[in-house]
Amino acid sequence: MSEARLLEKCLQQATAQLVAAGLGSPRHEARLLLGHWLGRDPAALLGPQTEYIDNPKFFFDLVKRRVNREPMSHLLGYREFWSLSFDVTSSVLDPRPDSEALVESVLKEFPHKDEEFQILDFGTGTGCLILSVLSERPQAIGVGVDVSKDALKIANQNTKKLSFTGRVSFLESDWGENVSGSFDCILANPPYIVSEDIDALEPEVAQFEPRLALDGGIDGLECYRAISKDLKRLLAPGGKAFFEIGEGQAPAVIDILESANLRLVRSVADLGGHIRCLIANAH
Ligand SMILES: C[S@@+](CC[C@H](N)C(=O)[O-])C[C@H]1O[C@@H](n2cnc3c(N)ncnc32)[C@H](O)[C@@H]1O
Repeated sequence: MSEARLLEKCLQQATAQLVAAGLGSPRHEARLLLGHWLGRDPAALLGPQTEYIDNPKFFFDLVKRRVNREPMSHLLGYREFWSLSFDVTSSVLDPRPDSEALVESVLKEFPHKDEEFQILDFGTGTGCLILSVLSERPQAIGVGVDVSKDALKIANQNTKKLSFTGRVSFLESDWGENVSGSFDCILANPPYIVSEDIDALEPEVAQFEPRLALDGGIDGLECYRAISKDLKRLLAPGGKAFFEIGEGQAPAVIDILESANLRLVRSVADLGGHIRCLIANAH
């Protein structure tokens, strides 16, 4: 029979295990995992915990998985992005705070709350980019594209969960291959890591995130080349395309866009001063 354990002791033990694994916010993560297990708001677990609980095995199983560097989003099943909660599994990229720069850029270029416009989201993953824009522009509609069926399932799941059904549809396509129509706003956060650099990334990424969401080929730029072929066809007159890029990739991606007869409108730096987003339109 398992004996009741003081919650505070469980938290301390989990925190010590996460510290030993070299994780950056051990007490915070232990609290998130405990809150997840107990079905409680982690904020209610701030301060010393005097309650006793039975059989914390499931909690310590979660801690063990985190010690093995499984991402928190996979353990919790969600990630906050743009103040919305997106379901996340190992089939999709864990939405990154850096990608919010793309959402901000779209909102600046489409500044009117009630503007009607059509969005295409290349490599939609969780759907975090297109759904965040839809949350801010209630008259906008769109299409999210991914080559991964499993990613499309999660994007659909998030659409229902966040109540955007009817405003967005999802399409299985190798970039622009199956896409027709014309779009005022094209978003793309494609895989852009150089293939041979992936294994050296932190274990959360290299071991647990889908390679399909990371691998940008031999120079990291293959997906920009593939996407750019269809941009002119898919951009509506006056439309704009928004690309997330990796550190140092701006000059090469601008070249690719110019070769596809697009023109750079603006580049946007992230908080670290690195160019993170390129905005382009058609000549
Ligand atoms: C870097 S992730 C971006 C996910 C999401 N948009 C975000 O910002 O978090 C890139 C996405 O592109 C998708 N992808 C990879 N190759 C593709 C292709 N050939 N055609 C369409 N989508 C592709 C992946 O499945 C993945 O969901």
